[in-house]
Amino acid sequence: MNQYEIDHLAVVRANTPESMVFLKSDGSFPLSHPGRLALYGAGARRTVKGGSGSGDVNSRHVVTIEEGLENAGFVLTTKPWLDAYDDVAAAHHRRFVADLKRRAAQAGIPAPEFGMGAVEAAPEYDLPLAGTGDAAVYVVSRESGEGNDRVAQRGDVLLTHSEIRDIQVLAAQFERFLLVLNVGGVVDLSPVSHVPNILLLSQLGASIGDAFADVLLGRSYPSGKLSTTWTAWEDYPSIGNFGDPDDTYYREGIYVGYRYFDSVGVAPLFPFGFGLGYTTFDVEVRAVSSDHSLVSVQAAVTNTGEHAGKEVVQVYVSAPNGRLDQPHQVLAGFAKTDEISAGSTERVTVTFDLADLASYDAAAVAMVLEAGEYVIRVGTSSRDTEVCAVVELSETATVRRVHQVLADPGFTDFTSPQYAAPRPAYNQVPRVLVTAADLRRADACEPVDLADALDHVSGLSDDELCHLVLGDYGDSAMKQSVIGQASQTLIGAAGQTTTAIPGLPSLILADGPAGLRLAPEVGEDADGRFALRPALGGLYAELREDDAPAQAGETAPRRPQRSYEQYTTALPIGTAIAQTWNLTLAEKLGDIVGAEMEHFGVHLWLAPAVNLHRSILCGRNFEYFSEDPLLSGQMAAAIARGVQAHPGRGVTIKHFACNNQEANRLHSCSHVSERAARELYLRSFEITIRTDQPHGLMTSYNLINGVHTSESSALLETLLRQEWGYKGLVMTDWVIDSMARTDQRYPRAIAAATIKAGNELFMPGCENDRQNLLAALHTGNAAPGGKAHSGEEQRGKEQRVSLTREELEKQAARIVRIVRRLR
Ligand code: BGC
Repeated sequence: MNQYEIDHLAVVRANTPESMVFLKSDGSFPLSHPGRLALYGAGARRTVKGGSGSGDVNSRHVVTIEEGLENAGFVLTTKPWLDAYDDVAAAHHRRFVADLKRRAAQAGIPAPEFGMGAVEAAPEYDLPLAGTGDAAVYVVSRESGEGNDRVAQRGDVLLTHSEIRDIQVLAAQFERFLLVLNVGGVVDLSPVSHVPNILLLSQLGASIGDAFADVLLGRSYPSGKLSTTWTAWEDYPSIGNFGDPDDTYYREGIYVGYRYFDSVGVAPLFPFGFGLGYTTFDVEVRAVSSDHSLVSVQAAVTNTGEHAGKEVVQVYVSAPNGRLDQPHQVLAGFAKTDEISAGSTERVTVTFDLADLASYDAAAVAMVLEAGEYVIRVGTSSRDTEVCAVVELSETATVRRVHQVLADPGFTDFTSPQYAAPRPAYNQVPRVLVTAADLRRADACEPVDLADALDHVSGLSDDELCHLVLGDYGDSAMKQSVIGQASQTLIGAAGQTTTAIPGLPSLILADGPAGLRLAPEVGEDADGRFALRPALGGLYAELREDDAPAQAGETAPRRPQRSYEQYTTALPIGTAIAQTWNLTLAEKLGDIVGAEMEHFGVHLWLAPAVNLHRSILCGRNFEYFSEDPLLSGQMAAAIARGVQAHPGRGVTIKHFACNNQEANRLHSCSHVSERAARELYLRSFEITIRTDQPHGLMTSYNLINGVHTSESSALLETLLRQEWGYKGLVMTDWVIDSMARTDQRYPRAIAAATIKAGNELFMPGCENDRQNLLAALHTGNAAPGGKAHSGEEQRGKEQRVSLTREELEKQAARIVRIVRRLR
C-alpha cells in the first residue's frame, strides 16, 4: 500500500463514526471487550462500501464488517451461517444478471445501460440461527446506483420476510442485540421499530468494517444525525409523481421532507436531524442577538451522560404565513460541537442571515421576506426544539429582484392545510428587530472579463473552436461517445478537455463523490495505456462482458509491457458525509480528494453532487447529501474548500438541476414551479456557489418544464452567471449515444443547442457531436429548441439550431480561461 493510501484511510477510519446515526439505544452498547459474537445478515460479509455507477471508487481493499470485527479480536460464532448465506446470495445474483440481460434484449437496449444501477433485491432465505455469544448483530444491506431507481418492494425499501423474522427472533433471544443498517438510503423500519438498538451505519467507504468495530467497542462513538426523514413507506407524500419516464410533476412544491411532515402534522419514525449517541446532552440557549440581518444564537451544550460525545445544535425558523404559504419551519443554521467529555460543557454559536430565508414571490418576481414574526427554534432534531426568540420584521422586504427563469409548470403547488392556522404568541422569549433595509441585497453580479481569452480563440479555425467546446475524443474518427471513462491520458478518468489545440493543455476530469474514481490497475504497451481493471466495475462490467468491442480505457485483451496502480481512497457516500453535520470534517475529506487529484494529475473532480432527496426512491440519493438545501449546499461548499485549497484543483457541483430520479434520465422532464425550484432544488447550488466558488458545474440530463437544463440560457446565463455571479466552467453531464433513445417523448440534449445556451463544454464528446456543431455553424438562422417527439424530429432539431462564430468563440474563451486558471 502507498503512504497516501495509509494516511487517508487512517483519517477516514477515525472520522467515519461521525456519519453513523444511532437511531435507537437502550444502553446495551458499547461492548466492554471483543468477546464471542453472533453476526448475521447480508451486509456482514458482503458489506457495501458505497453505491454503484460513476460514484463508485476503486480502493485497494474494503474491510467488511466480518473482517473488521475479527481484526478487533471478536470470535464470530456464525461462520456456517455466513457461508450458507453466501451460496444463497451468489445463486440469486446469477439469476438477477441473467434476467437483466434477457429484459434488456427484449427492450432492445444494450444490457450495460439497461441494467446499470438496477437494484438487486435482497433474497429471501431460510437458514438456522444457531450462533451464540455475548451479543448478536444483524446487518441489513442495500445497494443502488446510477441509471435506475429504487423500488418500494421487499428486499429494497421494504425489509424481506426473512430479515423481519430473523431480526425479531434475535432481538427476543439476545439481551444485547444490535440491528445495523448498511444502506445508502431509507429502509422502512416500521416492522422492526421496537428493536431496542438500531444503528444506521450507512456506507462508509474502504474502512467501514474497522470503523464499525471501533464503535461497537466504544473506542469511538456515533455522533451522526439524519440528513433525511426516515419513516414508514406509506407515510411519504405522494402529492407529486415520481419515476415517470416522460413527465414528473413536483406538485408538492416546497413541501419536501421535514418541510412536509412538520407542516401536515405526520410524526415520522425518525425525524430529520435526529440521532442518539452513547451519551446524552442538554442544550441551553444563553443569548440571541442580531447584527443587521445576521441572527446569532449562543447555546451551552452539556454532556449529561457517562461517555464522551458530540452534539449538533440545530436552529430552525418558522416564517410568518402571509400572502405566501410557509412550511412549519426550515433549517436556518447548525453547529456541531467538538468532543465533550462526560460532565463538561461547550459553548457554540449558530449564526444565520435572515435574508437567506427569503421566498420567491411570483407576483413580484423577487425574493421577499414578508412582514411579521420569525420564530426561532433551537434543538437537537427537527422534532425536538424550543422556541428561543422571535425576530420581528415590521414591513415586507424585497431581498433581491430576480428573473423568471422557468416556464410555467402547468399546475399550482400543493399548500399545507395548516397554512394560516393561528400561531401561539411567544411572549416569554426575547424579541429582535430587523428592518427591511437590513435585508436588501445587490440584484446582479459583474460579468467575467473574457477579453484575454477571446484574443486567444479569435485566431482559431472553426474546426478548432468546435474541438475546444467538446470533450477530447482522441481518435477523431470516434463516432460514439464513451461512458464515464473517456480520458485517454489518465485511464479511468471520466473525460478531459481537448488535446487538439497546440499550446493549450488539457484538463483531466474524474468522478466522485465518494472519492476519486480511476481505473485501479493500468497497463502500457507500444500503443499506449489501457485499463487492466476497468474504472466502472461491478454490475456494469458484468453486463458488458459479452458486449461489443471494448471501449477506450476499458479492459482489453492486450499484454502490458509495464503496469502500474491507481488505487484511491473510497470515502463515505454523500449522505453519510451530510450525516456528520460537521463542516470541518467535510473539508478534511475534500482535502483527501484534493491530495489524490494532485497525485494523479486530475484537475476537475466531478463532485460533490447537491441534488436533493426529493423521494427516497431516487437511485442516486446515496451520492446526494440531504432533503434540505442548506445542509446540502454548506456540505458541498466545505468539501469544495478542502479540494480547492490544492492549487490547480477544482470541484464540479452537479447535476444542475432537478435531477431527482434516474428513470429515463436523458429524456425525462421535471415539472416544477419557480418557487419550489428556487427555494429547494436550485438553492443548494446557489448556497455552494455563493459560499465557495466551485471551479466547475455540471448540468443535468433532464429537462425542466420542457427545456433541457443544458440548453437553457435562462438557467445558465441569467440565473447562474448574472444573478449568482458564477465564474467557473459549465459542462454537460455525459451525453452518451448508446444511452440516448430516439423513440422518446423528449429528445436528448445536443451539442449545438447547449453551446448556444451558455453550456460551454459538451461532454464527453465524439465526432458526431463535432459534426453537429459544424452544421449549426453553417446552416443559418433557425432557432434552437422545440420539442422533438421522435428520432426524426430529433434530427430535425439538430438541423434547426444555428450557431454564430461569435457565440462559439465566447464559449471557447470560457474554456480557455478555466484551463489557464487550473494549469
Ligand atoms: C453521471 C455523472 C458523471 C458522468 C461521468 C454520468 O453518467 O450522471 O454524474 O459525472 O457520467 O462519469
